[in-house]
Amino acid sequence: MEEKKLYQLLLRLTVWIKVLALGIIGSGLLLLAYSLGIYRIEPQQVSGTALSTARTVPVSTGSVWQPPLLASLPSNRDGDLIRYGHELIAHTAVYLGPKGKVMQISNGMNCQNCHLKAGTVPYGNNYGLVASKYPAFRNRSGTVEGFEKRVNDCIERSLNGQPLNPESKEMKAMVAYMKWVGKDVKKEKENQNEGFGLLELPLPEQAADPVKGKTVYDAYCTRCHGENGEGVLAENGMEYTYPPLFGSKSYNKGAGLYRISRFAAFVKANMPYGVSYDTPFLSDEEAWNVAAYVNSMPRPEIDLSEDWPELSKKPFDHPFGPYTDSFPENQHKFGPFGPIVLANQ
Ligand code: HEC
Ligand code: HEC
Repeated sequence: MEEKKLYQLLLRLTVWIKVLALGIIGSGLLLLAYSLGIYRIEPQQVSGTALSTARTVPVSTGSVWQPPLLASLPSNRDGDLIRYGHELIAHTAVYLGPKGKVMQISNGMNCQNCHLKAGTVPYGNNYGLVASKYPAFRNRSGTVEGFEKRVNDCIERSLNGQPLNPESKEMKAMVAYMKWVGKDVKKEKENQNEGFGLLELPLPEQAADPVKGKTVYDAYCTRCHGENGEGVLAENGMEYTYPPLFGSKSYNKGAGLYRISRFAAFVKANMPYGVSYDTPFLSDEEAWNVAAYVNSMPRPEIDLSEDWPELSKKPFDHPFGPYTDSFPENQHKFGPFGPIVLANQ
């Protein structure tokens, strides 16, 4: 009798010891994961002060814009057109690239190489605002631009290609898709959401440094985009698994990404592939420097003589003169931008 009681007591004790041990191991693991998480997520030291009024942190993560779901599209002709538009944005090169099935008018890149997940990712250069914004007056052309003109801008510059006929089925499909993506978004001023387009970075105090940028590139970008920025073609030989960042197959010097602030903002929130605006990997300084390096490498030219008919409207980082201020072209390209912004206020 006595022995049995003792035995039961021992049994209970070992159970408790096991529970305790598991608890200790468990919380140890949690702590480890936590510290690793912190290490991974903590934005590395931010350099420079905010000279612009740009937001660096979304106002509230609760109100980040969410795109509609493709699965919610009706099975009718309108739905089909939008689905075709989605397909064209996601796999542009398969239809319009050098080996395109429909026509051959662009460089082999896909719209979604830069407008991630067909333009639906918060701060992934998405199309959220497009429907509410166009037609719109743009200073670059000095005219009111409709959707078609804006799409052709990216085809001629980012895809280094020839414009699509505005009446073509392909143009109509892409426009229908972008309107659908932003269908629930109100006009800019009434908008309460965050997450549209790109997340602006504060301007750095120092000039961005292409030499330091090369070390960032070699450490974090070559493994996908290649040592010479050539990218990696997909198995179908038509589009890229990893798109080119410089050289003859990349965007040309008139493209949005050729402006260093656009490149830095895109890369900070989206690269290396897999990060997002709330889990960035690069420090701001690294993002500016790698932008300076990539945009110092060779890429296709384009005639920009018709751009910016009103010179004073050029953005501070437009990399080509003439300007209305006296700062040299190199400073407009790499910074420091503070004096330029102040002089133009
Ligand atoms: C090499 C990168 C790249 C590619 C490829 C690209 N774009 Fe763009 N696109 C940009 C950048 C950068 C901007 C400007 C973002 C900014 O200034 O905030 C932009 C802006 C736009 C805008 C205006 C967005 C707005 O809110 O005003 C539209 C529309 C657009 N692109 C459509 C397309 C379409 C359609 C394609 C494919 C045919 C395409 N883009 C391919 C980089 C690219
Ligand atoms: C793990 C692979 C990977 C790494 C590492 C990576 N990228 Fe990318 N990058 C991609 C992919 C994939 C895309 C295209 C996304 C798509 O089509 O959905 C892309 C697209 C881009 C684009 C827009 C398209 C273009 O070709 O112009 C830029 C700019 C870019 N990456 C810059 C960088 C920079 C700078 C680094 C290093 C800091 C980097 N990436 C690291 C995979 C990677």
